[in-house]
Amino acid sequence: MNWETFSDYDALSERAAAILLSAIRLDPHMVVGLPTGRTPVGMYDRVIAQCSREYHCFSDVRTFNLDEYIGIAADHPGSYCTFMKQHLFDHVDVRRGNTHIPDGEHPDPAGYEQQIASAGGIGLTFLGLGSNGHIAFNEPGTPFESRTRIVALTESTRKANAAFFDRGNVPTHAITMGIGTILESCEIVLLASGDSKRDALARLRSGAISEDFPASALWNHSNVRVLVDQRIDV
Ligand code: GLP
Repeated sequence: MNWETFSDYDALSERAAAILLSAIRLDPHMVVGLPTGRTPVGMYDRVIAQCSREYHCFSDVRTFNLDEYIGIAADHPGSYCTFMKQHLFDHVDVRRGNTHIPDGEHPDPAGYEQQIASAGGIGLTFLGLGSNGHIAFNEPGTPFESRTRIVALTESTRKANAAFFDRGNVPTHAITMGIGTILESCEIVLLASGDSKRDALARLRSGAISEDFPASALWNHSNVRVLVDQRIDV
């Protein structure tokens, strides 16, 4: 696991955007795994700014999002589909048919796995870090070999995401790529920023691998970069 520490969130976001952009310049047909949440917003902002200055950025790139809430329509303001349109897809030249987000209204976990396989697998996946160590919506206790499936969200995860829903009415379930699915990505970049991640980051750094702490599965992968905001580093 390769750790890179940055003075603040802006510097971390700059680096994350540079990693994504250089990957898709090197391979314009790259298949990318994309996260949602507050952490990757700075990365997406910089990617958009850079792509507006270039002729083609995303025209042949294919994307797979990590997860989506169950039981809400794609155009619900709190959906990850809405998030991706707002923060990336509406502002770059990605082809809508090349973007994939699990369907929260008619979830088809096996179908999503099939789509990833048909694309030839994911080359580069970006992840955020849940304060309880979750990655995507794989909560503590998730088997490391888990595949895309429907999961119940913990109260702490629902609370952390309450701001995105009217009256804090966060869905109780989600469809998420499994840890096993994520680990099949050739390369993984984990973004860690925000005070609420301090304990999770320390636990990840300790190197102890346990299914009680989903992010620790990343130690089993040979090509992981962790981008850390030094203000929460230990
Ligand atoms: C949600 C998402 C995760 C994300 C996590 C952290 O639970 N499903 O993919 O990494 O939140 O979000 P944030 O970056 O807002 O702290």
